[in-house]
Amino acid sequence: MQRLLTSVLVGFSLAKSVFSFTPGFPYGSQKVRGVNLGGWLLLEPWITPSIFDNTGNNAIVDEWTFGQYQNHNTASSVLQNHWNTWITESDFGAIAAAGLNHVRIPIGYWAFEVGPGEPYIQGQLPYLTQAVQWAQNHGLKVIIDLHGAPGSQNGYDNSGHRLPFPTWHSNQTNIERTDEIIKTIASMFAGQPDVVPMIAPLNEPAGYDGSAVLAAVRQYWLDSWGNIRYPHSAIGPAFCTPPHYQGVAMDTHIYQVFSNAGNEMSWQQHINTACQYQSILSGFDLWLVVGEWAPAMTDCAKYLNGRGYGSRYAGTYPGSTAVGSCNGLTGSGSTFSASYKTFLRQIWEAQVISYEKVTDGWLQWTWKAENADEWSYQAGLKYGWIPQNPTNHMYPNICG
Ligand SMILES: *[C@@H]1O[C@H](CO)[C@@H](O)[C@H](O)[C@H]1NC(C)=O
Repeated sequence: MQRLLTSVLVGFSLAKSVFSFTPGFPYGSQKVRGVNLGGWLLLEPWITPSIFDNTGNNAIVDEWTFGQYQNHNTASSVLQNHWNTWITESDFGAIAAAGLNHVRIPIGYWAFEVGPGEPYIQGQLPYLTQAVQWAQNHGLKVIIDLHGAPGSQNGYDNSGHRLPFPTWHSNQTNIERTDEIIKTIASMFAGQPDVVPMIAPLNEPAGYDGSAVLAAVRQYWLDSWGNIRYPHSAIGPAFCTPPHYQGVAMDTHIYQVFSNAGNEMSWQQHINTACQYQSILSGFDLWLVVGEWAPAMTDCAKYLNGRGYGSRYAGTYPGSTAVGSCNGLTGSGSTFSASYKTFLRQIWEAQVISYEKVTDGWLQWTWKAENADEWSYQAGLKYGWIPQNPTNHMYPNICG
């Protein structure tokens, strides 16, 4: 998760002909309503800060350093316990019961293949297979999301390796390894297009870091289309021909909290911004899904900007000026004021209404977080700022 940018989801369905095919979900005629299972098969410090704090080592800031600076058996057993407990089948039941139809599951490349000198710890892949089974048991669709690539595609901790500048795009070996992993994912779930209708080949590559990144990403999207679609095509070579946009969706991510200006906005300005996305997002000629967004409207959550960094909202992040205190704006929903919970409901609905009006649907980031309930779908259901049925709106006219 981070910032506003786009990536590509590639549909995974059997082809009926070059010009029409049957996806595992009626994209375009039915809205995607879903949630990300963030911080599960790929650690993010802000989603599970305790896992990082318990190491007693401040140099452990991402999953790379989690493996690098600890005894292997210790790190491995902490991860195994986390994979076993953070998400279980009961979560899939609760997600389906909340009226959602999709989950997006982030996973890092190292689940599939670890190169020499890379300190990542494996063992998460069986949980992905298990998750797909659980999704099927509860009638949910899965978008498998490659969230971390060799060399890091964006330099954020959520790619597995926090770096000053991404290095995925500048090294052809990294890109080729990623292509192979996408082929592996595609083959693993080739027989289940009804449960895994989409694969997101790379989360948030840093296209904003310059033309070299953009060029690598463009080629990678094209290659991924072939890598994902071809093995599953019923008609073989015909599918290698353009149009390349067949079965492709844009996955856009929308946050208002990763800039000083975003943190300085009033609650009403946040709502207005959410409503303005009705015009910003309109007119796409591909399927469009808002694959990450959240009701959180501050960057107050501990470690949200990385372990060791503060928040713009409290003025403890480099280059920011305090807007106010983070007290009562993050942590447990049991501490949130009535007016804050009303605002969370309003900003949740303003986004859902806007995204459903002009896109093919949405997936909130994220299902659960240890101590940042403003981001958590599960907590929103519990404390009431997210409706038990996502079509049940208290503020249907919030965008006018
Ligand atoms: C390119 O990346 C691979 C790992 O994917 C690494 O082994 C190799 O040293 C890198 N090459 C350069 C020139 O950095």
